[in-house]
Formats: sequence, C-alpha cells, structure tokens
Amino acid sequence: MISLTDKVALVTGSTRGIGRTIAETLAQAGAEVVISSRSADDCKRVADEFTAKGYEVLGIAADVSDPDAAQNLIKEIIAQRGELHIVVNNAGITRDNLIMRMKPADWDAVMAVNLKSVFNVSQAVIRPMLKARSGRIINITSVVGQMGNPGQTNYAASKAGIIGFTKSLAREIASRNITVNAVAPGYIATEMTKNLSDDARQRLMDQIPLGRIGEPMDVANLVAFLASDLAGYITGQVYNVDGGLVMQG
Ligand SMILES: NC(=O)c1ccc[n+]([C@@H]2O[C@H](COP(=O)([O-])OP(=O)(O)OC[C@H]3O[C@@H](n4cnc5c(N)ncnc54)[C@H](O)[C@@H]3O)[C@@H](O)[C@H]2O)c1
Repeated sequence: MISLTDKVALVTGSTRGIGRTIAETLAQAGAEVVISSRSADDCKRVADEFTAKGYEVLGIAADVSDPDAAQNLIKEIIAQRGELHIVVNNAGITRDNLIMRMKPADWDAVMAVNLKSVFNVSQAVIRPMLKARSGRIINITSVVGQMGNPGQTNYAASKAGIIGFTKSLAREIASRNITVNAVAPGYIATEMTKNLSDDARQRLMDQIPLGRIGEPMDVANLVAFLASDLAGYITGQVYNVDGGLVMQG
C-alpha cells in the first residue's frame, strides 16, 4: 500500500490534466500537495476544490520557466511547511510546427517551459533535500523524446533533454538518498491532446498494443509509487506509461 503521510509534494503544472490527477493521487495517499501553475486564479480554484474534498493543499502560482520564480516557489513552500519531500516536474507546453515554419520563439518557449523549468525547480529544491538527506524528484518526459515526431522537433528535444538531465542528476545526488526518475507518457487524453484529428488519432491507436488512449490516472499511479518509500532503490530510470507504444530493451 502506497502511503505518503507526512510528505509535502509539489506538482508543477497541476491546475489541470496529468498534473492535477498526479496531485490528487498523491493527496489521496496522504501527502500535503502544492498546486502550482502560472495563473494565481487557477491555483486558488483547484486548491479550494482539493480543500473541499478534505485534502491538505497549498496553491502557489509560479512560472517555472523563470529561475527566480522557481526559487521563490520553493522558498515559499519551505517557509510555510518547513520541508519539501517530493517534486514532480510536470509543467509542459507544445508549439508544434514543421521545422521550415517553426519560429525561433516557439523553439525557445518550449525549451524554457519543458526543459529549463526542470533545471530551475530541481536546482531550487536541491539544498533543502540535501539537508534532509532524502527526496524524490520525478520528471515528466514523453515517448516523443524517445521516438521523435514530425512537427515536434522542439518538444522532442526538450523531452529528450529531460531524460539526460534525469540520469545526470540521479548520479550526482544518489549518495544523499535523493532519487531522480522520469516517467514517459504516451498518448494521454488531456487538453494538450484533444485537438488531434480523427485520422491522426486512429493512426496513433493503431500503434498502441493495448489498443486504447491512456488516462491521466495511468500516469499518476506510477508517479505515486515512485514518490513513495517503496521506490527507495530506484533512481536514474525512465518508465513508459504508453500502452506498449515504445518497448525498450
Ligand atoms: N497529454 C499527453 O498525451 C502527454 C504525453 C506525454 C507527455 N505529456 C507531458 O505531461 C505533462 C502534462 O501534460 P498535460 O497533457 O496534462 O498538459 P496540459 O496542457 O493539460 O497541462 C499543462 C499544465 O502545465 C501548466 N503550465 C504551462 N506552462 C507553465 C509554466 N510556464 N509554469 C507553470 N506551469 C505551466 C499549465 O497551466 C497546465 O496546468 C507535460 O509535461 C506534457 O508534455 C503529456
């Protein structure tokens, strides 16, 4: 049984989609969760909804692509709760286009929100985790970072970058009992993916051995396990939650 009682957990990008479901799953396992995204209104709304369900929750807005905002977010959590045990780097965006048409600004935005944010938040949380001599960092990457996808050179590069980052940081801080892992979702039903044409959706489904699109809960269950004491001997790994789309040797 997964128990996160007495743990404080930050999930970035948790006002909707996969992040919100991860936050709720961690809360159900007993963690006090920090809901965060750029919009203060969204953070408050979701935090109020969680409070109404009886969960321990804080809502703190931050644009995690900004290093100062990430530092302030962690400072605020430590100031209010004294510690932070679990960080799930989930915030992400897409700005898809074929390379011929991709604007440099779309490259930069995706790298900043998807990859630099992981550096920003991880760097900010390392000091308190080193002091505590324990911690869990879980980074949400994507099958696209492993397989590639036409029209997503920026997104794929950012997600592949997360994998290299995860392995390096895992090696850097393993001796301090802090684990760092990545979860690679396949095609999950959220706002991010709802605009696919029926044709594109069918082509995708045809490639998924389990024959269905994933739900945010499929990802959240694995994150909750990796965040728990049960996963104490696991670090530097990438786990796919993709219905068998990518099978690695
Ligand atoms: N949906 C999928 O099929 C899928 C597949 C693989 C990986 N992923 C990854 O999972 C994560 C969540 O995806 P989703 O489908 O739930 O997306 P979503 O668009 O529904 O939610 C993204 C969340 O990130 C927040 N966010 C965006 N920019 C931010 C910023 N600068 N600072 C703070 N928060 C910010 C948004 O407010 C939102 O809460 C992303 O990293 C995404 O790349 C999704």
